[in-house]
Amino acid sequence: MSAAPMIPSPEAYFGKFLPARDPLLQHMEQEAQRENIPIVGPVVGELLYLLTTLGQARRVLELGTATGYSTLFLARACSAFGGRVLTVENDPQMAARARANFQTADLADTIELRQGDALEVVRGLGEPFDLVFMDIDKSFYQPALPDCRRLLRAGGLLVADNTAFRDADGFNRAIAADRGWRGLHLYAFLPGHSPEKDAVTLALRI
Ligand SMILES: C[S@@+](CC[C@H](N)C(=O)[O-])C[C@H]1O[C@@H](n2cnc3c(N)ncnc32)[C@H](O)[C@@H]1O
Repeated sequence: MSAAPMIPSPEAYFGKFLPARDPLLQHMEQEAQRENIPIVGPVVGELLYLLTTLGQARRVLELGTATGYSTLFLARACSAFGGRVLTVENDPQMAARARANFQTADLADTIELRQGDALEVVRGLGEPFDLVFMDIDKSFYQPALPDCRRLLRAGGLLVADNTAFRDADGFNRAIAADRGWRGLHLYAFLPGHSPEKDAVTLALRI
């Protein structure tokens, strides 16, 4: 029996099925491309929107804001049921640009941006979160993991971007070795993501 045919050139094919974005997100994508700002792009952005909505996550923590592109997907999802996002960025220029984008999106009341080092900020937090999105320098993923685990409620979700980067290896192994996580690494073609072939890790806090 011959195998059922697959779609030829799947990257060209699936690259056409991008989620719709408003003019602000499109502007931020163009800016990111021009200035080499490594944003999650529309596919991972939509994934964040869906995961936040499915989990009804009302307390969302993001590490690594840049201009706030991914933050807008998180905030738009959780604001539908009264949720809020706390996002952390250490670069003051990025933080200022993100704040301006949150104003433009009319989400300044839904998002709190703390400017500072994510490792220090998470160390000082005590409140539980339903969802944590990690998108800082990959070498900080593993050091930030114990605090993310402490801050996530049981049944909460950790999402980590760029886990196909070599610097994420320790983080990936730590997730696999700890029975307190139920983790999954999705290596995929992600149009508009930086880079377009990368992994996103999802880990449920047991
Ligand atoms: C990949 S970009 C974030 C992209 C953003 N999440 C998006 O998709 O729109 C990473 C950002 O994290 C910031 N960053 C890196 N290490 C950090 C740290 N230790 N603490 C806080 N921010 C950090 C960088 O300045 C950069 O703006």
